[in-house]
Amino acid sequence: MNILVTGGAGYIGSHTCIELVKAGYNIIVADNFVNSCMEAVNRTRKLCGINFPFVEIDFTDYEATDQLFDKYNIDTVMHFAGLKAVGESCKIPVEYYKNNLDSALSLLLAMKKHNVKNFIFSSSATVYGADAPIPYNESTPVSRCASSPYGNTKLMIEYILKDAVKAIPGFNAVLLRYFNPVGAHESGEIGEDPTGIPNNLMPYVAKVAVGKLDMIHIFGNDYDTPDGTCLRDYIHVVDLAKGHVAAINKIKEDCGLFVCNLGTGKGTSVLEMVKAFSKSCGKELPYEFAARRTGDLPAFWADPSYAKEQLGWVAKKGIQEMCDDVWHWQSKNPNGYSN
Ligand code: WQD
Repeated sequence: MNILVTGGAGYIGSHTCIELVKAGYNIIVADNFVNSCMEAVNRTRKLCGINFPFVEIDFTDYEATDQLFDKYNIDTVMHFAGLKAVGESCKIPVEYYKNNLDSALSLLLAMKKHNVKNFIFSSSATVYGADAPIPYNESTPVSRCASSPYGNTKLMIEYILKDAVKAIPGFNAVLLRYFNPVGAHESGEIGEDPTGIPNNLMPYVAKVAVGKLDMIHIFGNDYDTPDGTCLRDYIHVVDLAKGHVAAINKIKEDCGLFVCNLGTGKGTSVLEMVKAFSKSCGKELPYEFAARRTGDLPAFWADPSYAKEQLGWVAKKGIQEMCDDVWHWQSKNPNGYSN
């Protein structure tokens, strides 16, 4: 099977490339480097042990997307490419809608023209509403409106794919709803490399550990949770990548629409995460409590039982391993890919 990996130079895409190659799939990797770089591709090639084809392309360019499908024989699209910063999406929503929707649509149109019927989509637990009961399972209704424009682009693309499955004979769409991906490849060669000051907890903590930032700010310690800080379902990026490989079997079964959570089923607090990271880096990391961050939910995690039943996939790596691997990556690459 020949798989086009869009956003394959990015954090989740690059880790997934490795697992796909390990599992024997051919990959064609594409990215526009808006939030990634060629060094990530070079290192991923090295870890894969092959020089897979790479194309620099912006998928909002409909013509270029079409030409890519002319050039390569593609069976399946794994779509990771997209803008993903929640806060930024609230500031420039129109750009977010344009980028994320246009790229999905241009891929779908090119797929239709070239008779490519399989699409695996990076969706997010953010599609579940704020009032959804915990843990989230796949029959939990999705929200009518997500908590950010970023989340809405995920919801909208899910709707588009659901309609495509209904209308296009033989079309398969797998929607994978990620919880909180963290961690890095065990080699320490690839990992998350956000530009500027990180918005997400794990890369922020890693930058404090490596001395690039002074202090962790924990947003809220008065939530109705065991230690007052928010609980999230952190999942190791390599486990997540393996979930994508497992999902290909659904495509092979001609699943039509298949929706699945990728999470561990365990909630971890911000404080627990900071303590685990302190252990990984061998020093107490400085933190202070700050005001709650607008829009944060107190706690949510996945019900991972459907993934186990349907995909035979279970996340295996725990919090300490996630922190150890991030520390390995960050300490080996204090400036990320721009060493
Ligand atoms: C986790 C917890 C913060 C930073 C987001 C997106 C979601 C998904 C993953 C995918 C929260 C707290 C954070 C800090 C802190 N996106 N925190 N200090 O918000 O659960 O999910 O990333 O592309 O769609 O919304 O993740 O890592 O930002 O926050 O205390 O400096 O850490 O309040 O409780 P979140 P996060």
